[in-house]
Amino acid sequence: MFVIILNVLLCIRPVHSVWACVRSCPTSCVCTQERSCSILCDRAGLTQIPREFPCEAHSINLDKNSIKFLAERAFGTLPSLKLLSLSHNNISFITPGAFKGLASLTELKMAHNEYIRYLHTRTFTSLKKLVRLDLADCNLFNIPDRIFIEVPALRELFCFQNNFRRIPGAIRGMENLTHLYLEKNKIEAVAYNSLLGMARLKYLNLQDNKINVIHDRAFQDCQKVEYLYLNDNVFSDLPENSFDGLRRLKMLNLGGNLLRNVSNTWFRDQFELEVLYLDRNRISYIEEGAFENLTSLVSLHLNSNNLTTLPFSVFQPVYFIGRLYLFRNPWECDCRIEWLKEWMENYRLVRDIPCAAPSSVAGLDLTDVVFERTDEGFCLDPEELNVTTDSPFPTGEPQSTTENKFNSLISKFLLQKGLSEEVVNTTESFINTTLFDGLTNDASFGLREYNIKLMCSFNFWLFIVVYESK
Ligand SMILES: *[C@@H]1O[C@H](CO)[C@@H](O)[C@H](O)[C@H]1NC(C)=O
Ligand SMILES: *[C@@H]1O[C@H](CO)[C@@H](O)[C@H](O)[C@H]1NC(C)=O
Ligand SMILES: *[C@@H]1O[C@H](CO)[C@@H](O)[C@H](O)[C@H]1NC(C)=O
Ligand SMILES: *[C@@H]1O[C@H](CO)[C@@H](O)[C@H](O)[C@H]1NC(C)=O
Ligand SMILES: *[C@@H]1O[C@H](CO)[C@@H](O)[C@H](O)[C@H]1NC(C)=O
Ligand SMILES: *[C@@H]1O[C@H](CO)[C@@H](O)[C@H](O)[C@H]1NC(C)=O
Ligand SMILES: *[C@@H]1O[C@H](CO)[C@@H](O)[C@H](O)[C@H]1NC(C)=O
Ligand SMILES: *[C@@H]1O[C@H](CO)[C@@H](O)[C@H](O)[C@H]1NC(C)=O
Repeated sequence: MFVIILNVLLCIRPVHSVWACVRSCPTSCVCTQERSCSILCDRAGLTQIPREFPCEAHSINLDKNSIKFLAERAFGTLPSLKLLSLSHNNISFITPGAFKGLASLTELKMAHNEYIRYLHTRTFTSLKKLVRLDLADCNLFNIPDRIFIEVPALRELFCFQNNFRRIPGAIRGMENLTHLYLEKNKIEAVAYNSLLGMARLKYLNLQDNKINVIHDRAFQDCQKVEYLYLNDNVFSDLPENSFDGLRRLKMLNLGGNLLRNVSNTWFRDQFELEVLYLDRNRISYIEEGAFENLTSLVSLHLNSNNLTTLPFSVFQPVYFIGRLYLFRNPWECDCRIEWLKEWMENYRLVRDIPCAAPSSVAGLDLTDVVFERTDEGFCLDPEELNVTTDSPFPTGEPQSTTENKFNSLISKFLLQKGLSEEVVNTTESFINTTLFDGLTNDASFGLREYNIKLMCSFNFWLFIVVYESK
């Protein structure tokens, strides 16, 4: 009786003495000599949870054993335990209340237990301080809707590589969740109510699922989301208001889907978006102004699509882009993308933009296409040398050289933005130091002063990378 009372006292006021941790160290485990008592029982061939742990245990690692079953209060009472790891075992049944007695636990890892499949509503009961829960690769088909009711502090939930066919209802209303990992499941849709009440969500990963439909306003409650992965799914369209209100979005990945058109309603509110992936779709048409509000964009991935042309106007009135990835598209190298050739020449970052058409230049790289001009300075399409085409820059006056074209562009923008040269000059060093560093090794790389200044004055910059990164 006395011994029991003594134990209880010890547990209430954790003793950080070294000997206490080592003394009751389970056989087949190693206990560290540090102040925080860590119990290392990984790869120890255990088939059961050791009967006793030092009661001041701070972390327990039971990874890579062959544990099959967790009884109620499987770990006894360990009031100091913060981290428990049971990854890579063969757990197939967890008794409700298995983690009772672990009142301080903040992180529980149970990834790679292929036989779990099913969890009882009260599995995590009493884990009031649990912040991180890892259930990746546990062959889960669903989890009960109320399973997290008693886990109010949960912020990071790892559920990737399971068999979910819908976003689990259990996460609805989890206002404290900041990170949700649901990649590599079999989720088929994002419903209007799948993500309700996720007021603090910053990171949402739904990549590599089977999402074929995203419903209207599906992300409406995720207003704080900064990283959104929807790549490698199978949707061919998005509702026009999909991302409305997601003003904090920094990275949006829509790559590897079946999109054909890019609507100018999708990215209305993404003023802070820095990276946009639209690669590996079937995009053949981008609506005018589609990227107009993306004033923070530093990289746009449009490679591996079905683009034949890229009108200058898709970037208007904001057409300054960090890096533009355009390789693997069937480009039609006619006067409509002459502007692209000129930008590329000016920034000397071009390696690879093979033309698919017109036939007279098919197979050539856009940089090698020579655009003939009329006496008035208008661009002539390669194939039909006798047809006059308007310049893509409607300046209203003939332009005979690149220089002229840029100069008039500049004047136009300066007028439009009401900027004086003075404003423009002040930002020069910003460009020099932050924008071009590290982006090219080309020794001959150089920009005409005028262009640099112009771009910088609008607080972003245009740069075109058309080569294929290896
Ligand atoms: C894991 O458990 C399952 C069923 O509980 C069993 O069929 C399988 O043989 C076990 N695997 C190992 C490696 O123990
Ligand atoms: C979120 O955290 C707060 C403070 O820890 C808590 O009071 C609240 O119940 C939590 N919300 C949910 C839905 O668990
Ligand atoms: C894509 O854009 C083209 C050209 O405007 C239009 O004809 C077509 O209907 C659009 N397709 C979709 C799915 O919006
Ligand atoms: C850009 O943002 C402004 C202000 O929020 C909005 O009025 C406009 O419609 C947006 N542009 C597009 C193309 O959605
Ligand atoms: C690419 O676009 C052309 C029309 O511009 C269409 O005929 C073709 O089917 C498209 N290819 C794919 C893979 O969508
Ligand atoms: C341009 O080509 C058309 C046929 O495509 C021909 O009828 C016309 O005479 C040509 N014009 C010139 C100036 O060569
Ligand atoms: C801006 O810079 C150009 C050349 O660098 C110079 O000729 C011009 O006077 C400058 N303008 C002002 C207002 O400093
Ligand atoms: C801009 O870069 C060039 C070449 O790297 C350097 O010589 C020049 O001093 C830089 N100017 C500023 C203002 O940093």
